[in-house]
This record gives sequence, structure tokens and C-alpha cells, in this order.
Amino acid sequence: MDAAAGIEIVRGDITTQAVDAIVNAANSSLLGGGGVDGAIHRAAGPGLLAECRQLHGCPTGEAVLTKGYRLKAKCVIHTVGPVWSGGKQGEPGLLASCYANSLALAVRHNCSSIAFPAISCGVYGYPFAAAAATSLRAVHEFLSAHDEPRIVRWVMLGATPYDAWTAEIAKFRSNG
Ligand code: AR6
Repeated sequence: MDAAAGIEIVRGDITTQAVDAIVNAANSSLLGGGGVDGAIHRAAGPGLLAECRQLHGCPTGEAVLTKGYRLKAKCVIHTVGPVWSGGKQGEPGLLASCYANSLALAVRHNCSSIAFPAISCGVYGYPFAAAAATSLRAVHEFLSAHDEPRIVRWVMLGATPYDAWTAEIAKFRSNG
């Protein structure tokens, strides 16, 4: 299939998404934080933190799955993006791993639809355009080799990431 066909970019709040899995841009403690992490924990309720405590952390670039508790989403996939330190400390590879590992986990748990935030683009300082290019490439590569998830949606709170991802997806579509 056309690997870009199931990719969607929308503006909104990821916590309200009715998809099988939403992805959390967590930190390696998995014990909550600000940004999208804080919003997901607030919306899911205390059960999420209780389950996260049992997981004892997650290394950068990897992903773990919990239930969605009070969210519409059945699951939360927690992944830890790299902190941007200029781009030469392995950040692109680690960011690509976040996406590939999250997608693989979604498939393993029969999640056909998944929503991502702009991982690493807030507190962790990853430039939007660079993150968009790396993220789209990683997802495109995964979808080229797998039939699932059918829907991969980025949910952007702000206009800047929305515009960066929209510009990048246009390149994939024009390249067929
Ligand atoms: N829906 C969609 N996107 C959101 C939402 C939301 N409700 N809230 C924020 N964003 P960040 P990071 C966007 O900082 O850079 C946490 O404290 C936000 O505008 O949440 O990976 C963790 O615990 C930005 O574009 O994640 C870690 O310590 C994007 O989500 C650290 O921050 C990511 O911003 C992770 O930093």
C-alpha cells in the first residue's frame, strides 16, 4: 500500500483522541512531568501513574505500553525522546527509534490507530523541521514494511509543529 496513505496531521489536544493508542513524550523515570506528559496523566487519572511506577523507567529511544484508564484511547505508549544537543549526539537515530518502537508495540497490542505528539519538540528542544523530517521518515519506513497500524496521526497543539509536519508530508506525497 501507499505508506503515506494512513498518515494524518491534525491540530488539537492528543488527550481527547479516540484512537487505540496515544503516545506520550515521557521522560526516562515514567513518573510524569510537564507538557504532553502532564496533560496525559491529568486526563487519564491516577491509575496511569500507579501502572507506570511498576515499570521502573524506560531508556531514551525505547517505548513501553500501559492501559489508557480514563482516556478514550485504550492504551498509552510511553516513549522517551532525546534531548536536543545540536544534532550530533545521536538525536536523529534516537528519535527514529521512538517512532519505530512505538509502532512495533502498537502492532503487538493490536492497535490499528495511533496518535503521536511532536516528540522531543517541547522541553527537549528538538527543532521542528528536523524532527518532522526524521519522524516522517521513520513512520514511512515502518508503514512500508507493515500493514498496521492503519492510521498514524500526529496531533499538534501548536501551529508551528503543524506547519512543519504538513510541509514535510507534502514532500512524501509528491515523491509518490
Ligand atoms: N496535545 C498535543 N501536543 C501537546 C500537548 C497536548 N495536550 N501538550 C503539549 N504538546 P513536551 P518533550 C506538545 O515538552 O519535548 C515532559 O515534562 C508541545 O507543544 O511535552 O519530548 C516529560 O516528562 C510540544 O510540541 O515533550 C519530559 O521530561 C510537544 O507536545 C519532557 O517534558 C512535545 O513537548 C519531554 O519533552
